[in-house]
Amino acid sequence: MKTGIAGVICFVVGVLIVPLFAWSYLSYGRPPVAVTDSAFPFEKQIVRVPLHRRMESEIEQAPIQPDENNLLAGAQIYKRECSFCHGIPSQPAEVGQNMYPSVPQLWQKHKNGVVGVSDDPAGETYWRIKNGIRLTGMPSYQKILSPTQMWQVSLLLASADKPLSPSVQAALSQP
Ligand code: HEC
Repeated sequence: MKTGIAGVICFVVGVLIVPLFAWSYLSYGRPPVAVTDSAFPFEKQIVRVPLHRRMESEIEQAPIQPDENNLLAGAQIYKRECSFCHGIPSQPAEVGQNMYPSVPQLWQKHKNGVVGVSDDPAGETYWRIKNGIRLTGMPSYQKILSPTQMWQVSLLLASADKPLSPSVQAALSQP
């Protein structure tokens, strides 16, 4: 009987202590709230693993070709919808670098030499544009752009490591 009561007391205390700790951490601790604060422990891993699983299961093939017309249309859409955060060739976006998480600059070379997301299949980029990425500044464009427009931007970004035609270049650097 005694161990029964002790067990109940331990259980109740246990159940109360966890939320109490959580509450005091959030109230009196210094959890990250500012853009410049460092991340929660394991924050990146917790978000990335399910994102990649989901993307892999929903990936689609591009129904259009990366020809001049589609790349040019993609560049015009990119300039209007994306450059504010993701930058243009040889000009990173100021705002994008001061967000949390910071915005990948899609025309810049990474340390491994890859430009932006040109190493990702267009279908993966399409998924990100269509669905957005929760708890980051990355918007979902499925109610803003048509599927063709989203593919045009995706194909453009997949070609970011190749020389751009003068008209695509001009569309990207238009004021
Ligand atoms: C308000 C800012 C903002 C705008 C506008 C925006 N994005 Fe993003 N985007 C982000 C952020 C923030 C991330 C990083 C998300 C993360 O950390 O996982 C991101 C991530 C991405 C990625 C993945 C990059 C990588 O390295 O894996 C792609 C591709 C992308 N965006 C494409 C676009 C395209 C195309 C547009 C326009 C149609 C666009 N974004 C508009 C903020 C933005």
